[in-house]
Amino acid sequence: MEYRFSSRVSQLQSSAVRDILKLTQGNDLISFAGGLPAEELFPVQAVREAADRVFAGGPGALQYGVTEGYMPLREQLCERMAAKKMTVNPNQMILTTGSQQAIDLLVGVLTEPGDAILVEKPTYLAGLQVFAMRGLKVIAAESDEHGIIPEDAERLIREHRPKLLYAVPTFGNPTGRVWSLERRRKLLELCKQNHIPIIEDDPYGDIKFDDQEYPSLFSLEERAEKGAVFYTSTFSKTVAPALRTGWAIGDSSVIAMAAKAKQAADIHSSTMDQQILSQLLRHFDLDAHIRLIAKSYGERMNEMHTLLTKQKLQDVTWAKPKGGMFLWLELPEGLDSEALLRGAVRNGVAFVPGSSFYASNPQRNTARLNYTFNTGARTQLGIERFVEAIGEFTARS
Ligand SMILES: Cc1ncc(COP(=O)(O)O)c(C=O)c1O
Repeated sequence: MEYRFSSRVSQLQSSAVRDILKLTQGNDLISFAGGLPAEELFPVQAVREAADRVFAGGPGALQYGVTEGYMPLREQLCERMAAKKMTVNPNQMILTTGSQQAIDLLVGVLTEPGDAILVEKPTYLAGLQVFAMRGLKVIAAESDEHGIIPEDAERLIREHRPKLLYAVPTFGNPTGRVWSLERRRKLLELCKQNHIPIIEDDPYGDIKFDDQEYPSLFSLEERAEKGAVFYTSTFSKTVAPALRTGWAIGDSSVIAMAAKAKQAADIHSSTMDQQILSQLLRHFDLDAHIRLIAKSYGERMNEMHTLLTKQKLQDVTWAKPKGGMFLWLELPEGLDSEALLRGAVRNGVAFVPGSSFYASNPQRNTARLNYTFNTGARTQLGIERFVEAIGEFTARS
């Protein structure tokens, strides 16, 4: 039989990250590609004990649950959100299969195919995949080290009347950038004036290397009901991605609509995982664990930053991240990092070419390096191989 795929999936680019991860399986490739947390820091014993507690509660733990998610976990998360000046009740929250599904559900209920969505340039690759699957036209505003440039966002809003802004204001993926407070306030105001809801995606906010506070757009808006901001976060980076548990908060009527959409998608996310997380929060000091992860990732970032600095690479620049999981490199003008990747993989190291993070007109001389998965000798060897690949590439061209 011949199959005709929908126009939406035919446009879908295979994720370069996934393709590279496939390549990296089963050989000695050192991967700086995936956004993988450090496995040795997973709280395995605490998760096992939490699971034991769930099973000790009886067979009801294995029953279907409500679409919005396990109520005790929603209540616990409301407390954690309140501590970050985001006050919501459980009706203003939905638990999702990772924050990835939260993005998809919110986009699904707030847009029509053909609508425009405003994003930062560059932006999260799997976000771009959601927008393509939802038939959206992506318009990308220029950004600098302080975040989206408001004047450019304003111009694009006038031209394209986007239905949504999608943003990762704190330790963005791929750039690791943090929006300044001024930019946060400006973008929030701009979106409110133009009736554009914002999806604020915050998987990395807790992974910070200093004591600075970065108030979420949601907290600056100060209200959920009829508010402009829908905030999403996840346990993937702070506990473990395999638990596939994220959440979204915001206006209760939009959350209720997202729950209807979720019913159609998967009825509910794994309540087993949600119950495990609820027990974990009750009996394990997650905040102490987050501090431990952040400290270790800060050290790994410094390690990679120092190794790269020592190489004295010509025309290779990056900003030292203040948090998150990625280093964003600008490579010599004219260097195509997709071509560089092939040489790097031959040398035994992988990264993600920057072009993956643009909906159109990619800046090709960019690359994203993850620093959380590897450490010590492997990071050193990986950077040596990477630098070698740049050397070979520039010598050839
Ligand atoms: C910016 C961003 N948003 C969302 C996600 C999705 O995370 P998860 O679905 O595991 O919660 C990721 C994962 O890497 C991410 O980098």
